[in-house]
Amino acid sequence: MKIGVLISGRGSNLKALIDACAKPDFPAEIALVISNKADAGGLQIAKDAGIATRVISHKDYDSREAFDRVMDQTLREAGVEFVCSAGFMRILSDEFVEKWRDRQLNIHPSLLPSFKGLNVYARAIEAGCKVSGCTVHFVRAAMDEGPIVAQTAVPILEGDTPDMLAARILEAEHKLYPHALRLVAEGRVTIIDERCVISDHP
Ligand code: GRF
Repeated sequence: MKIGVLISGRGSNLKALIDACAKPDFPAEIALVISNKADAGGLQIAKDAGIATRVISHKDYDSREAFDRVMDQTLREAGVEFVCSAGFMRILSDEFVEKWRDRQLNIHPSLLPSFKGLNVYARAIEAGCKVSGCTVHFVRAAMDEGPIVAQTAVPILEGDTPDMLAARILEAEHKLYPHALRLVAEGRVTIIDERCVISDHP
């Protein structure tokens, strides 16, 4: 399965996906990395791995739809069959989401449906949660919603700062995203009534 990865920044989840795809038995390969920011650290990570990169700045387009159409076209031209958002900090248009419906994953650093949106670590600590975690889900028009493929719970410890919790969750993300992508690429994930059913065997 040919993957396109959308990033905006550091790219540590991208790196985890690149490392996973490098394994001979992994059923996916990354064909293209798109960043909406020219200074995203993840671009260098992709280049170092010999993966094609494109910068498409949202600032060059009048509307979200126009920007998304160029992204869509660029992905298709690269032969991308499936999209992974990995720290892509733009809300996608309904049109883009529908074009890639059931063919796009996102990773979010909380146990969805709790703590959608931003500042998730501080909000989980402030709420007194004893666990948080991360979620990989199919993308739907509403932000941080969509059928959940996989989640990892991560403890919140006494005295945690948002940065400490973020670092602990990020470690879990790097294992979870390749795991979830593998499940999907092996054809083990079926969406029924907007819930993912995972089968044992491909
Ligand atoms: C991750 O925490 C991810 O869950 C969130 O944005 C962050 C991206 O980090 N959507 P990185 O760019 O993958 O290092």
